[in-house]
Amino acid sequence: MKVLGIETSCDETSAAVYDGNVLSNIVYTQISHREYGGVVPEIASRDHLKKVEGVVSESLRSANIGIQEIDGIAATYGPGLIGAILVGLTFAKSLAWAISKPFLAVNHIEGHIFSAFIGKGRVSFPRLCLLASGGHTEIILIEELGRYKVLGETVDDAAGEALDKISKLIGLGYPGGPAIENAALTGDNKKFSFPRPDPGGLNFSFSGLKTAVLYVYQSLNSREKISYIKDVSASFQEAVVDTLMGKLAKASQKTGINKIAVCGGVSANKRLREKIQEKFEDAIFPLPEYATDNGAMIAAAGYFHLKKGESSPLSIRANPNLSLS
Ligand code: KG4
Ligand code: ZN
Repeated sequence: MKVLGIETSCDETSAAVYDGNVLSNIVYTQISHREYGGVVPEIASRDHLKKVEGVVSESLRSANIGIQEIDGIAATYGPGLIGAILVGLTFAKSLAWAISKPFLAVNHIEGHIFSAFIGKGRVSFPRLCLLASGGHTEIILIEELGRYKVLGETVDDAAGEALDKISKLIGLGYPGGPAIENAALTGDNKKFSFPRPDPGGLNFSFSGLKTAVLYVYQSLNSREKISYIKDVSASFQEAVVDTLMGKLAKASQKTGINKIAVCGGVSANKRLREKIQEKFEDAIFPLPEYATDNGAMIAAAGYFHLKKGESSPLSIRANPNLSLS
């Protein structure tokens, strides 16, 4: 069984073919947002429109199969930017209709969950999942694949969003996560003591941390702003990582579950991986190519649902605020 997966919920136009293994995964990352320091929704939709057909064709070519060999077509239907989602969703529905094959509407968050398991063989459940991306920061209990409970989430910014905003503030550009990680490599993570905000329970908050960094940065003179950029990056990254780790440890203590999966763009962060691996013996992370948005994770989730005999009606609508529960 082969599933074509299409992802366009933010600034990656991606398509992949999955049959239990990834046969192809073509990712086009939109670069036109960089000069604005963040994703511009209108530009994202237009760029997806230009690229989606070529990216899908390339994914079939690279998997060395024809469209008639595809057994189901999956696409993200939320959450994300409405105009961006609509491009991939409409393309996928039309294609499914044209070749008379089932359509599978995939929740982008479930896609990220699947990303951690691609290429990992047999994985056991229940398992706690830390999802940290540009749009979401959540702790999810995976009872089994397809059955989830959200145990905690951010009450304001997502972790990736905070990294992106601070990166823009200190002049490191977009996307912020990799830029901050890179600058932090040779920085002192104890130079500045930034807070580890805690809104209670298993929820996260990053806006206070962001403001704390802003105030410290504003207090530096222009020479210090340059000479301390690596230390600010390292200290800020450490605060983000500690905040994520702290809640994950708390969730593990509360549920008695110490098997972990980490996903979402921020899961690419090496400092986060290092700290989680130090604490948890059984911690699974996506292979680097599946950490940030990609079609393979959507195809893998679609494959799972199609195998269970499920499909979605073509009347299903994009839902920018879709949640997992
Ligand atoms: O999962 P993703 O591609 O898109 C969303 O669903 O939001 O995540 C993108 C986010 C961005 O905020 C980016 O700065 C962050 O993931 N990110 C990282 C790293 N690579 C990407 N954050 C920390 N360290 C990284 N290496
Ligand atoms: Zn994502």
